[in-house]
Amino acid sequence: MEEFLRLEKIHKSFVGVHALKGVDFTLRKGEIHCLVGENGCGKSTLIKIISGVLQPDSGRIVVEGQPVASLGSAATMARGIQVIYQDLSLFPNLTVAENIAIAEVKERGGGVVDWDEVRRIARAAMARIRVDLDLDAEVGELPIGVQQLVAICRALTSDLKLLILDEPTASLPKHDIENLLSVVRDLQAHGIAVLFVSHKLNEIFAVAERITVFRDGERVATLPPNELDDDRLVALMTGRTLARKVFAFADASARKVLEVRGLSKRNHFADVSLELRAGEIVGLTGLIGSGRTELALALFGISPAESGEIRVEGKPVQIRSVQDAVAAGIAYVPENRLVQGLVMKHSVEANVTATVLDRLLGRLGLVDPARKQALAREWIKALGIKVSNPAVPVQTLSGGNQQKVVIAKWLAASPRILILDGPTVGVDVMAKAAIHDYVRGLAARGMAVLLITDEEAEAVANTNRILIMRAGRIRDEIVAAAAEAEQVQQLVEAPS
Ligand SMILES: Nc1ncnc2c1ncn2[C@@H]1O[C@H](COP(=O)(O)OP(=O)(O)OP(=O)(O)O)[C@@H](O)[C@H]1O
Ligand SMILES: [Mg+2]
Repeated sequence: MEEFLRLEKIHKSFVGVHALKGVDFTLRKGEIHCLVGENGCGKSTLIKIISGVLQPDSGRIVVEGQPVASLGSAATMARGIQVIYQDLSLFPNLTVAENIAIAEVKERGGGVVDWDEVRRIARAAMARIRVDLDLDAEVGELPIGVQQLVAICRALTSDLKLLILDEPTASLPKHDIENLLSVVRDLQAHGIAVLFVSHKLNEIFAVAERITVFRDGERVATLPPNELDDDRLVALMTGRTLARKVFAFADASARKVLEVRGLSKRNHFADVSLELRAGEIVGLTGLIGSGRTELALALFGISPAESGEIRVEGKPVQIRSVQDAVAAGIAYVPENRLVQGLVMKHSVEANVTATVLDRLLGRLGLVDPARKQALAREWIKALGIKVSNPAVPVQTLSGGNQQKVVIAKWLAASPRILILDGPTVGVDVMAKAAIHDYVRGLAARGMAVLLITDEEAEAVANTNRILIMRAGRIRDEIVAAAAEAEQVQQLVEAPS
């Protein structure tokens, strides 16, 4: 197959970080190429160089046989290369049709917008990937999976030759992932190349024609999927192999740390009862909209329940605010790392230690900087956060490493009850295993953990019981050790 893009000896450094160390990379016309590697290995940096957002320090870029000095953003688009980042860059208060067609219409100039033309352009783009969206819907009101399709249609209004997707599936529910993967195959059928970044090995194997593995700023391999399997891929990414262990709950008669009875909130969840014992990790799963995240938000006081009873260590507690929840010893690692949980401009150290400041106060009530730094370093080491030093702002970290900072922040508070919502979304396999191990260690020391997850396999391997929500209620409870991921999935998708 003919080559579309070639990078030669690309170097890129940031202050204190050599992010790309002489990378050679080629992409063929019309291929689906997946990019994988641990958090912070340079995937997004490579994409930003291809898309012209960043300039390489040195190296050569060749597009369709022609060397290009540097790809500015406009030059990149003119060559048929478009990137869809995780934030999608759509206009939330414009319609689907306007979002899809806006760039194209602007391009043609002329003061007056021809609305029939806008709709025609939008329909043509949708037809190419066989989707049928409501042209008049306001984009901000649509679910994220649909917004993503709008962004892809927008890219299709130009003469698209390469579409780059940076972790497009990280925040998508399962059904939308399958939908997106079939759109990717459709694009390829139209001769459009797709460069796809993901940490989810199963979807990489499902779509990739070639897989490129990065490790620490270097390309270590490019192979077709039939020459790889999960273990070999992990070994290439990390230089290590992954030991898989299943969670075992030590003491089934341990004291009840959390008891919830008949918790309800209109239009969200109803009559939810559950118990967590010290040392237990309980899974909570269900489709988006099943009420699982709303339940977590209620337990953490962000959006309190309307009726029902909550007891912590046997004592009734009222949780009407986050302060109430924190006072009761509850911590919550939220689902959406980009909008909740971190102050992006503040340092890694400030974010990690934000929840534990009172423990770091010295005799005069002043925060002891040495202890603060030591604590931050401990967590950086424990979770393998890739950062040159704890004083750098969180916004300079790669996406997955930011997620680790959120987790460190809440684990550092050493709560009695820990609610984790999608804790391993967007983190690489090794970090995922490290987080699972860490959470097990916390449970072994008596913490009670509620693990909310979309990934059935994660629930099966890391919990002792799995609660399954459908339509606002807990409908099933199964023993993790006896379950298979497929069985959990069937229960998740069963009619309520
Ligand atoms: N603007 C920046 N300033 C300083 N360092 C940066 C900047 N952008 C990226 N880096 C660093 O460069 C390295 C590579 O980051 P990059 O975002 O490419 O990783 P990634 O492979 O996309 O990781 P992830 O899977 O977590 O998204 C990281 O160490 C990151 O901290
Ligand atoms: Mg990235």
